[in-house]
Amino acid sequence: MSRVVDLSVDIAGIPLKNPVIAASGTFGYGVEFEDVVELGKLGGFVVKGLSKEPMSGNPPPRLWETAAVMLNAIGLQNIGAQAFLEEKMPRLLEINNIVVITNVFGYTREDYEETIDILNQGEGIAAYELNVSCPNTSRGGLQFGSDPRSLDEVVAAARRIARRPLIVKLSPNVTSIAEMAYVAQEAGADALSLVNTFVAMAIDPESRRPRVANVTAGLSGPAIKPIAVRMVYDAAHAVKIPVIGMGGISTPEDVIEYMLAGATAVQIGTASYWDPCATEKIVDGIEQWCRDHHVTRIEDLVGGMQLE
Ligand SMILES: Cc1cc2nc3c(=O)[nH]c(=O)nc-3n(C[C@H](O)[C@H](O)[C@H](O)COP(=O)(O)O)c2cc1C
Repeated sequence: MSRVVDLSVDIAGIPLKNPVIAASGTFGYGVEFEDVVELGKLGGFVVKGLSKEPMSGNPPPRLWETAAVMLNAIGLQNIGAQAFLEEKMPRLLEINNIVVITNVFGYTREDYEETIDILNQGEGIAAYELNVSCPNTSRGGLQFGSDPRSLDEVVAAARRIARRPLIVKLSPNVTSIAEMAYVAQEAGADALSLVNTFVAMAIDPESRRPRVANVTAGLSGPAIKPIAVRMVYDAAHAVKIPVIGMGGISTPEDVIEYMLAGATAVQIGTASYWDPCATEKIVDGIEQWCRDHHVTRIEDLVGGMQLE
C-alpha cells in the first residue's frame, strides 16, 4: 500500500507544497527552466538576484568546478527589477500553482529600498529574499552580512518598505552565525535562509593565474555541506523564525539532514548546474524517503536530530 505523505511546510505564512526551493543564481528567472522542470512540483524557486538597474557582471572566466565544489564570481549579473517585472513575470503569472521568491541585493541601503519598492508594484511574488553578501559601499565596503550594524540597518530598512514576507539570506563569512541570525530576526526578518557562498580562491599552477578572473569567488557545492549544516543548526537555535537551509544539497538524504538540523525548508543551487532536473528529482526522492521511513508529515522532522 502506498502511504500518503504530507510534504507541506510553512515559511513565514507562505504555504509550500514541499520544502524544496531552487536557489538564487542557479535557476535563472524560473522561465528558463520550464521545459526541463515542472515548476509547479517544486516548493518554490528564487530568481537570480535583482538590483535597481541592470548589471552585466564580472569578466570571464567566472566559474571553476571540481567534483565537489564550484567557484563562481558571476558578479550579480541581472536584468534589473523593472525588466524582471515586465519581461519575466508575465510568463510566470500564466503558470499555476508556483511560488516565486525574488532575491534582492544592493550596495547601499537605498539600493535595497528602491529595488523592493519597484518589486512591490508587481504581482505574483510570494516573498523577498535579501542577499546581504554584498559590500556596503557607504560603510567602506564591508559586507552588509558580516557586520551586525550594517545587517540591522539594511534589514530594518527593507522591512519598512517590503509589502511581502522578508527572508534574509545570511552570509557564512562571519565569526558567529548565531549572532547574525538573531540580529536579522530582531530587525524584522520573517525567515532566514543560509548559507550563501564562502569566499574562496583557486590558482592554476601551470599558468599561475587565478582560476576565476575576479581572483576571489564564492564556493558552493557538496564540499560545503557539513559546514553549512552546522551553521543552520546554530542559526535555528538562535531564533524563533523559520530557517531555510542550503549548501551542497544533491540528494534527498541531504534534505532530511538539513531538516533534522533545524531547517523548515531547503534550497538547491549548484546541483541544478550538474543536473538541471535535480530539484524535481529531489522532491520525488524525499517523498520516497518518508514512505520508506514511515514519516507521514515531513514537518515533524524539523530540528529532530537525536543526541542520544
Ligand atoms: C553561479 C551561482 C550564482 C549565484 N547567484 C546568487 C545570487 O544572485 N544571489 C544569491 O543570494 N545567491 C546566489 N548564489 C548562491 C546560491 O543561491 C547558494 O546560496 C549557494 O550556492 C549554496 O548552495 P549550493 O551549494 O546548493 O549551490 C549563487 C550561486 C552560484 C553557484
